[in-house]
Amino acid sequence: MDHDAADAASNDDIRASFGVSEANLRRAQPADAAALALLGGATFLESYARDHPGDALIRHVQAQHSPAFYAQMLADPACATWVLETDLGAPVGYALLTKPDLGCETGADDLELKRLYLLRGWQAGGWGRRLLAAVEAEAATRGAGRLLLCVSADNATAQRFYWRHGYDDVGRQHMFGMGGRAYHGLIWAKRLGGDPETPPAILTRSVAPEPAGQWPRRWA
Ligand SMILES: CC(C)(COP(=O)(O)OP(=O)(O)OC[C@H]1O[C@@H](n2cnc3c(N)ncnc32)[C@H](O)[C@@H]1OP(=O)(O)O)[C@@H](O)C(=O)NCCC(=O)NCCS
Repeated sequence: MDHDAADAASNDDIRASFGVSEANLRRAQPADAAALALLGGATFLESYARDHPGDALIRHVQAQHSPAFYAQMLADPACATWVLETDLGAPVGYALLTKPDLGCETGADDLELKRLYLLRGWQAGGWGRRLLAAVEAEAATRGAGRLLLCVSADNATAQRFYWRHGYDDVGRQHMFGMGGRAYHGLIWAKRLGGDPETPPAILTRSVAPEPAGQWPRRWA
């Protein structure tokens, strides 16, 4: 069995054990701020509790995943937010498109995928792909030529996901400090629209994608 087939088999097992059924993707509304804060905090904790100090995690969630933060995003016409819900209306995934706010030079036609998170039981079922497609379509509709994102240097799963979807590294930035430790984020980008046969130089890959078993890639 190759890597992808083995991954798919174990993903099916994971989904079966969570009893995951269908979910619904929609654009978030101002009334969703509290749900997004709950989900943002939960996905952040689930993603980073493994190797981050608890008090720093809690402070970060209180500041960056408050209902007020999401209310501000939802009220800002420069931002767009999507929420993935179960059939019973429980929030399980979200994505946030914003103007770029990264530690690198950006152009007038750049937008940023600020957040893309799913609770673990809803990962590896194609929802990330669907959320990303919705964000890219909206970014293109808004006239963006490039979609940027910051992915943690430690997050090989997300890097592989974005790589598969045509994103590549264009720089690096210091993402955040937590509990006295510095965590690095990598800035990746994808050119939207245009001719896929002739990617701009900035997105030309110098190495071929590596097979699943060889991730994470080593960054100089
Ligand atoms: C990264 C993330 C957004 C990707 O979303 P996802 O829903 O897991 O992604 P998809 O299901 O669309 O694709 C993931 C993999 O599952 C596989 N997959 C997709 N549909 C599948 C299905 N029906 N059955 C089995 N496998 C499937 C895909 O082939 C893909 O494989 P790959 O990793 O080899 O590319 C999600 O895993 C996540 O939220 N992770 C935690 C938070 C995080 O790291 N966010 C990014 C911060 S920058």
